[in-house]
Amino acid sequence: MGKNNNSKYISIIIFSPFGNTLKIGEYIQKILTESNQQCKLFNLTGKSWQQISSFDYSLVEKSDLLVIGSAVYAWKVVKPIKMFIDNLPINKNGKAVFFTTYGLITGYTLLNGANILRKKGDKVLACLKVPTRHSMIFKKEDDIYLNRPNQQDMKKIWKFSKLIIKLLNKFPNWELSFKKLDYHSWKVKLLYKFMIKRFGMALLPSTYFNQKKCIKCGKCAKACSVQIIKLIPYPKKFGYCIKCYNCVWSCPVDAVKSRTFWIFHFFHKFLGYIYHEIPETKIYV
Ligand SMILES: Cc1cc2nc3c(=O)[nH]c(=O)nc-3n(C[C@H](O)[C@H](O)[C@H](O)COP(=O)(O)O)c2cc1C
Repeated sequence: MGKNNNSKYISIIIFSPFGNTLKIGEYIQKILTESNQQCKLFNLTGKSWQQISSFDYSLVEKSDLLVIGSAVYAWKVVKPIKMFIDNLPINKNGKAVFFTTYGLITGYTLLNGANILRKKGDKVLACLKVPTRHSMIFKKEDDIYLNRPNQQDMKKIWKFSKLIIKLLNKFPNWELSFKKLDYHSWKVKLLYKFMIKRFGMALLPSTYFNQKKCIKCGKCAKACSVQIIKLIPYPKKFGYCIKCYNCVWSCPVDAVKSRTFWIFHFFHKFLGYIYHEIPETKIYV
């Protein structure tokens, strides 16, 4: 499909309510394009569940490589990206790389993403994780990765992009060993198995709209990353909320609230203290 032997057709698919994953996806796209690859980015953010489930897969079917990017939500791949991969047609000759952006601990996101891609027949060549500003932390001083990604992180992402091209052209049978993605300590494994895996998303604070404060401006509905908020005339959710908190960030009058953010902040501090990963951009190959 490429322009010449060394030029491949690469599709980048991301979902990025807060913009971190988009930033990395766009940077990878820039490097690949500058290296004479044909590269298209598909941003699923702001699409409704219906639009994501009816994505036209013929747009990416002929790609020599899929680059999939997801934020970490409760130690796993975000639901819209999972849905996208689950609906991918089986492709025994498919190749993919997977990357994640995270604000504290990646948990099983890389393994999770690589596994679902492999189930679709894709050979996973490499993975990447990038520490970024945590999209759920509302007080800047609480965020240990506030100024990430930094220049060093971007250099690693550059390296990752170049590596992808090399693997595609020079190592056609290359496949990443998934053992490398299962790097967590027993402490993390236990917490994941007995708590986060089953209850992770449910433990995250839900939001509600305070009608007394709401000015019905509709900014929350526009910002909703899965388009489930409708104004009738006050905002109301219709459909599965992924808890990206874009509605909270977008509200000019502080009318989108949660009763349990304080529990999250407490838990986050506890996790940060005991479990946080060394904040580094890392390539798995
Ligand atoms: C609901 C929710 C859950 C999150 N869970 C985790 C987590 O378990 N571990 C982590 O390191 N970061 C977590 N984060 C932080 C995001 O993964 C991180 O900020 C990511 O870069 C956001 O991606 P985006 O900017 O593309 O939306 C969470 C963020 C949200 C909103």
